[in-house]
Amino acid sequence: MDTKIQEIRIAIEEEKVKSVRQVEDIRIKYLGKSGIITELMKELGKLSNEEKPIAGKKINELRQFAESKIKTLKEDFEDKEIEAKMVEEWVDITLPVKNKKIGHKHPLNLILNKICEIFIEMGFSVVHGPEVETDYYNFEALNIPKDHPARDSQDTFYINDNVLLRTQTSPVQIRVMEKQKPPIRMIAPGRVYRSDAVDSTHSPLFHQIEGLVVDKDISMAHLKGCLETFVKKLYGEKTRTRFRPHHFQFTEPSGEMDIACPKCNGEGCSICKGEGWIEILGCGMVHRNVLKGVDIDPDIYSGFAFGMGLERIAMKDLGINDLRLFYENDVRFLEQF
Ligand code: DAH
Repeated sequence: MDTKIQEIRIAIEEEKVKSVRQVEDIRIKYLGKSGIITELMKELGKLSNEEKPIAGKKINELRQFAESKIKTLKEDFEDKEIEAKMVEEWVDITLPVKNKKIGHKHPLNLILNKICEIFIEMGFSVVHGPEVETDYYNFEALNIPKDHPARDSQDTFYINDNVLLRTQTSPVQIRVMEKQKPPIRMIAPGRVYRSDAVDSTHSPLFHQIEGLVVDKDISMAHLKGCLETFVKKLYGEKTRTRFRPHHFQFTEPSGEMDIACPKCNGEGCSICKGEGWIEILGCGMVHRNVLKGVDIDPDIYSGFAFGMGLERIAMKDLGINDLRLFYENDVRFLEQF
């Protein structure tokens, strides 16, 4: 038995293979159902009781030896296969690539991202609301009842009497306040619609960015501080601002913020149409009626809101005098940014 085991061990040691398939053949040859080692096991029965455990142990060692040899053969072979593949599929990564044209972000998105980043830095979250809205969210809940003259400047496309394409991003304020109780600090960018004829400054589809802050003890000082910080980050530390009183149904008091024209610094030029100032947003303290409508107690909480037109800001920023350029998708225009 000993010599037999020794012989088999040497035979295993000398086994060589050329493919994974041959490794499997060797496994069957030694360890298969009627393999050499399996057969050897069967012979144990013929031995005496004293010889049995000793021979059994040796055969087990032989089996382990065969198993590890097969494993090494397999691994060697797999390594070789990978090496061969690497040689076969070699590419020269130092060769210059063909000049592939990849696009870039649309100028409106470039500016929108910049604006979002500034507000995110100040702790605002970015939320989105539906473009198809109900009359309630777009008007009623914003303190603009049916037949109110404030609706005149915001004619839109109606799906039916009650459902319309939103004219402003302000309805997102209501949707957020319904779901979330203060403190609230959010901006809501998105598309808005109005039934305006297309010209160099009007489009039936444009973009706004809404902002809302609601908490205890929020005052006009917070509104001014926040919006001035925003404008300085967007246009530079030296940018001068001014606030003018205005009227919005959903804020009281309301105002508009102007910046000194970044091109001429207040001197008057073609960008600011000789005025020296550019209006960039509407804002105000959230109206008590609006807070009440969403079950936020106006005696405990207060807030400020603002809304700005993205195209307006982008036009001034990029020195463009025709808004249609943003939508025509002429690459000669888009490539410049
Ligand atoms: N929604 C207004 C508009 O489209 C803009 C606006 C003004 C939004 C004042 C506000 C605000 O949140 O406080 O003309």
